Amino acid sequence: MSELHTPQAGDDAAQDTDVVALLMRQHGDIRNLFDEVEATKGDARQEAFRRLVRLLAVHETAEEEVVHPFVHRTVAGGEEVVKARLAEERSAKETLSTLDDLDTGDPKFMPQLLSLRQDVQEHARAEERYEFIHIRRSADAATLASLARGVKAAEAMAPTRPHPGVESATANVILGPVAALMDRTRDAVRKAMGKD
Ligand SMILES: [Fe+2]
Ligand SMILES: [Fe+2]
Repeated sequence: MSELHTPQAGDDAAQDTDVVALLMRQHGDIRNLFDEVEATKGDARQEAFRRLVRLLAVHETAEEEVVHPFVHRTVAGGEEVVKARLAEERSAKETLSTLDDLDTGDPKFMPQLLSLRQDVQEHARAEERYEFIHIRRSADAATLASLARGVKAAEAMAPTRPHPGVESATANVILGPVAALMDRTRDAVRKAMGKD
């Protein structure tokens, strides 16, 4: 095939070198985890919800550190685009903290979860439309790969898929409150991008 291969979400090789493919895959993982929380009960729901919280925390932190600064710098009107995304992320984080304090069996849990899901979905669609498309257009291959390194460093803080037998040290860390995880993720991203 001589045609240029456009990386797709779910394309594992592309995710190493293309930050957009990687972030689109994470948006898909987030959707799947919401499905899992909704479809389960009891301990299984609690466990799926923990994974969702961790992934959302590291995903949004990575976007704040990697994606938004790039869009701010390189896209015409980027400042306004980023301001809107940051406001959505702030409100999602507030809902996330409220949810994090609730037991997954609490009657208030499901309505809060569904409202978070809707906000997160709208936010993800806005990112895909107003940020990811521009990143694809304006970033060269080296930049896409360097941004991907930052996002991968964040993702290592919240493994969403089990790694049988080879649990990493990070995966075994007992995760504290969401804010602490976000702080650790921010440090990891900055280190990976040579900004610490
Ligand atoms: Fe985001
Ligand atoms: Fe996102």
